[in-house]
Amino acid sequence: MPLITTKKMFKKAYEGGYAIGAFNVNNMETIQGIVEAGKLENAPLILQVSSGARKYANPLYLKKLVDAAVTDSGLPIALHLDHGDSFELCKDAIDGGFTSVMIDASHHSLEENIAITKRVVEYAHDKGVVVEAELGRLAGIEDAVNVSAADAMYTNPEEVYEFVSKSGCDSLAIAIGTSHGAFKFKSEPKLRFDILEKVSKLLPNFPIVLHGASSVPQQFVKQIQLYGGDMPGAQGVPEEMLRQAASMAVCKINIDSDLRLAFTAAIRKHMSDNPTHFDPRQYLAPAREQVKEIVRHKLLNVLGCSGKATEIL
Ligand code: G3H
Ligand code: 13P
Ligand code: ZN
Repeated sequence: MPLITTKKMFKKAYEGGYAIGAFNVNNMETIQGIVEAGKLENAPLILQVSSGARKYANPLYLKKLVDAAVTDSGLPIALHLDHGDSFELCKDAIDGGFTSVMIDASHHSLEENIAITKRVVEYAHDKGVVVEAELGRLAGIEDAVNVSAADAMYTNPEEVYEFVSKSGCDSLAIAIGTSHGAFKFKSEPKLRFDILEKVSKLLPNFPIVLHGASSVPQQFVKQIQLYGGDMPGAQGVPEEMLRQAASMAVCKINIDSDLRLAFTAAIRKHMSDNPTHFDPRQYLAPAREQVKEIVRHKLLNVLGCSGKATEIL
């Protein structure tokens, strides 16, 4: 089967109380690690590409790698633009074969966010592509949008119905206390499940997206520290909170930092254990393997989407 949109994935995820993992990809080894995990767990996947990834790898290369992943795995896979910051960027991704795009105009006023999102929706729907939008602002580094903790803003539930009905978006990212990167909480992790609850009552059966949802596994932080890295205080969203979100209206959970941590921790260890190695295959293979293991764990124990590929195919 070819690349698919997230429409059926989200319908099934909503009904089944689970979430689809949306994993950021920048290179072949990460794609292979994620897809191998998906194959082992028979899970649907969203592979997403940020503007940073497009600049690093060239979207043409990433699209071909993802096409190869679809052919190789036979899994239901959607290719998604992460944090598109303009109509032009979204259009470029749609024209380039992406099946889903995010327009992130959350730093604009409500009216402007609606207008920009609506323009993307009209173009995307005409081509059979779905659109994720964002209301509220996450702290941390969003791809093209640098939001400081002081500027972060929880989603206002009173705005969601107007936003979704006027913009026509297919899914909505909301801000409930998660943030991008590996340093999410300075003290006790806390998410505003009350906001998620209110939003889901106002938008029945509507798929909600959680950005900044890496759990920052401490075994990777320790491995990085042990082999010369320095990441004191790295902390993510506890897995039980992600499971709770997945059982509610959250149908898409975005994970990037955890893949970076898995990859880097494996390379640091390998280089330290094997100072004579200089063939990239020698250290990229364990990095790919560690990505596979963490993704497998997420699919099975956090997202709850193991075995769900069959109901989407
Ligand atoms: O939301 C941000 C993602 O983690 C992408 O990060 O812009 O460094 O590729 P990036
Ligand atoms: P993390 O930094 O928590 O992995 O979030 C990734 C993300 O939201 C990509 O859009
Ligand atoms: Zn994000």
